[in-house]
Amino acid sequence: MWTGRFAQETDAGLRAFSESVSFDWRLYPHDIAGSLAHAAALHAASLLSAEELGQIEAGLGAIRDEIARGEFQWRTDLEDVHMNIESALTARIGAAGAKLHTARSRNDQVALDLRLYLRAEIDLIVEKLRAMQRALVGLAERHADAVLPGYTHLQRAQPVLFAHHLLAYVEMFERDIGRLGDGRRRLDVLPLGSGALAGSTINLDRALIAQKLGFPAVSQNSMDAVSDRDFAAEFLAAAALCGMHLSRLSEDVILWTTSEFAFLTLSDAFTTGSSLMPQKKNPDVAELTRGKTGRLYGNLLRLLTVLKGMPMTYNRDLQEDKEAVFDSVDTLKITLGVFAAMLGEARTETATMARAAADPNLLATDLADYLVLKGVPFRQAHEVIGKLVATCAQRGVGFPQLTLADFRAESGAFDEDVFAVLDLRRSLESRRNPGAPSPANVSAQLARWRDVLRAN
Ligand code: ARG
Repeated sequence: MWTGRFAQETDAGLRAFSESVSFDWRLYPHDIAGSLAHAAALHAASLLSAEELGQIEAGLGAIRDEIARGEFQWRTDLEDVHMNIESALTARIGAAGAKLHTARSRNDQVALDLRLYLRAEIDLIVEKLRAMQRALVGLAERHADAVLPGYTHLQRAQPVLFAHHLLAYVEMFERDIGRLGDGRRRLDVLPLGSGALAGSTINLDRALIAQKLGFPAVSQNSMDAVSDRDFAAEFLAAAALCGMHLSRLSEDVILWTTSEFAFLTLSDAFTTGSSLMPQKKNPDVAELTRGKTGRLYGNLLRLLTVLKGMPMTYNRDLQEDKEAVFDSVDTLKITLGVFAAMLGEARTETATMARAAADPNLLATDLADYLVLKGVPFRQAHEVIGKLVATCAQRGVGFPQLTLADFRAESGAFDEDVFAVLDLRRSLESRRNPGAPSPANVSAQLARWRDVLRAN
C-alpha cells in the first residue's frame, strides 16, 4: 500500500517485528464503523458515487461478517487491521475500494479506532463494576445485622457492621466508575479528518462523520489529534486504581477465609484444592486478582513510557499503545465477572464474626468517651482506660468482669452506669454522625445504594 517508492521487498524479520495485526485485529468492528462513516462523507463531498458508496458498504459488511465467523485470512505482510481490511475490500469490489482511503491516514484512523474501542469497553466495564457493587450490597443486605471488629494496623480496633465494611468497597468502585466516566467524556472526540498530521486538502464534513459515529465533538488540532493517547493513559490509570481496590478486597477475602479469621466460606465452585494437601481449599480467585494488579499497574507505566519523549506528531512508537490497553480491558472484565460471582456464593460466618466482635477491648474508646462526657479531658481518659486494659490483661479478664471499685480505683468519674457502655449494640447505635456505622446510618446507606443501583 506504500510500495510506490520502494524497489526492495520488506525484510521478513522486519515484517514480523513491525506487524500489529496479530493484536490490533480486534479493532475490526470499530475500523469498519469508522470506514463506513468516512465513506458517507466522501459521498457527501461527491468523491464517491452512490453506487460506489453502496459497494463499499456491502463490501465492508461482508468483511465484517467474514471476520466474525472466523473465516477472514489475516495477513501479517499487510501490517495492521486497517491495511488488511482495506486490501480485502479492494480485492472484493475493485476500484471503489481503492478510493476509500481518500483524505484519511492510518494515523487518524488508528486514533479513531482506539477511541471507539475504548468508549465501548468502558461502558462494558462500568456494567461489570455495577454488578460488583450489586454483589457487595446483596451480601451486605443478607447479613444486615452482622457485626465484626473493624481493624487498623490489622489489629482489632472498634466494632463495625459487616455491611459498613462491604459498603466501603462500594464507595471505591463508585469512584472507579466516576473516573472511567470522566475519561470517557474526554475521549469522546472525533480525531478522523486530522489526516497524517495536517488534515487534508480535501475537506470532508467532519461534523457529519462525528454525528454518524456518535461523537459530540471534533478535535481542533490535527497534530494533537493524531498523537494524543491521553485518553488511553487515563483509562489505564483508572484501571490501575480499580485494580488496587480489587486487590484490597482480595486481601480481606483471603484473610477472612483463613482458619484464623473464619469470617467467610467460599463455595467449592470458586476455590481450588491442593494436589498435595487434601484438606486445602484455596481462595485462588482473590489471590489471582491481587496478582493481576501487577498487570494493571504495569500497563499504565508501559504506555506512559511509550508516550514520553515522542516528538510531534505520530511516531511508530504509538503502535505499542494497544496491547497495554487490551490487556487492562481484558483483565478488568474477567476479574470483575469472576469476583462478583464468587461473592454471590460466599457464606458469611456471622457467629464467628460476632465472637470476635465481642472482644471487650473493642469498646475501650467508648469507655474513654464515657469519661469525657463525665468531664474528664480526653488525654487523661485515654490514660485511665489504658491502665484498665493493662489490669484486664494481667487478670486475664475483660472490662465487664471488673467491679465498679476496680474502675473507680483509676478514676472517681466512673459510676454504676459505666456497665451500660459495655454493650456492643449501644456502642454501634451511638455512632450516628454522617458516615459512621450506626445501624440506622448503615441501613440508610444500603437504601441509597439500592436506589443508585436500580437507576443505573
Ligand atoms: N499499525 C499502526 C499503529 O498501530 C497504524 C498506524 C500506522 N501509521 C503509519 N504511519 N505507519 O500505530
